[in-house]
Amino acid sequence: MPQTKQDTGDAGSAGFVSIEHLTKRFDEVAAVDDVSIDIRKGEIFALLGSSGCGKSTLLRMLAGFETATAGNIYLDGAEISKLPPYERTINMMFQSYALFPHLTVFENIAFGLKRDRMPKDQIAERVDAMLNIVQLKPYAKRKPHQLSGGQQQRVALARCLAKSPKLLLLDEPLGALDRKLREQTQFELHNIIKKVGVTCVLVTHDQEEAITMADRIAVMNSGSFLQVGQPHEIYETPNCRFVADFIGNVNLFDGVLVGDEPDHCVVETAEGNFYVGHGITGNLGMDVSVALRPEKIELRREPALERNYNCLAGHIVDSGYFGRFSLYKVALTGGGRLQVAITHGQRHGQLFQVGDEVFASCLPESLVVLTH
Ligand SMILES: Nc1ncnc2c1ncn2[C@@H]1O[C@H](COP(=O)(O)OP(=O)(O)OP(=O)(O)O)[C@@H](O)[C@H]1O
Ligand SMILES: [Mg+2]
Repeated sequence: MPQTKQDTGDAGSAGFVSIEHLTKRFDEVAAVDDVSIDIRKGEIFALLGSSGCGKSTLLRMLAGFETATAGNIYLDGAEISKLPPYERTINMMFQSYALFPHLTVFENIAFGLKRDRMPKDQIAERVDAMLNIVQLKPYAKRKPHQLSGGQQQRVALARCLAKSPKLLLLDEPLGALDRKLREQTQFELHNIIKKVGVTCVLVTHDQEEAITMADRIAVMNSGSFLQVGQPHEIYETPNCRFVADFIGNVNLFDGVLVGDEPDHCVVETAEGNFYVGHGITGNLGMDVSVALRPEKIELRREPALERNYNCLAGHIVDSGYFGRFSLYKVALTGGGRLQVAITHGQRHGQLFQVGDEVFASCLPESLVVLTH
């Protein structure tokens, strides 16, 4: 699906990295299909999508490890598409960020600078600054095997940043870490990148990682950008079923548009009419879907009296306890299923059990209509 830059929520700001109609074909298959985007200076931009959607291929074209079939890449005003990797002021950190095991932390970070024949005192100064930023100064003399996974990861980042690249590329940077360490390191990595101020393109298939780390996210599928936006835009107002479904948990109801005003619209579904708090550009009678996040639903034993719309009756068929919240599955009278997440603060002392009759309701502004 070709996309113009006007679609990307980035109007008006010139791109520090500017990608124009970039395509990469392997044989007949387009791994990256006519992608255009402007990335601002200092921005952390995440490419998010499932396996095989073209994230790494796009990143490798930025780095120069892969030549584009068509399209251009500009960095800080200069065309770089035809330059070999070593002539681009770009550094890429791979998933397997292999540090040199026989070198100390200091020597690992100094490696690229030495190769560039930077004077010794300048190297020492630069490495020292990097060690401060990644908070590993006391570890300078250690070897990689004497560090934790998260610390090794920070050394690898420091090594990438030492040469002051204009653009930092991270391909699944936290892939090697376990879940707990990953969450902690996401914040650290974000803070380090922001402190240094380097522009960064990050590849991940983990939505939480993209949401935590990125200023903007591009959701990719089959080589194309489906939606580009800030994390809250992608989560709160997905522009299509794929994005809604890919990011977080979502309830989707198929229906028909039966009312459309500037400030609201009405969708008829098997579960009744949904009253949605925004208008759409569409025609009455068209097929649409309504998306509703599980945590935006209120569950009660009685119908909500103050509201005679967006209220669904059903009974609980499954429940799960997840520490921070409980997740209920509700069989609705129209035949559909609804997932409802209730945090313990919202529960008001009520505990629901399998078999309980319940009424689920939501506000019009919690619903999003999707036209494709
Ligand atoms: N050198 C190559 N030759 C042929 N096909 C390739 C080559 N590299 C990648 N592809 C294909 O291009 C598509 C995109 O691959 P890519 O590695 O960019 O995906 P990805 O989004 O990074 O996936 P993952 O999350 O699994 O790393 C895939 O269908 C892949 O098989
Ligand atoms: Mg990849």
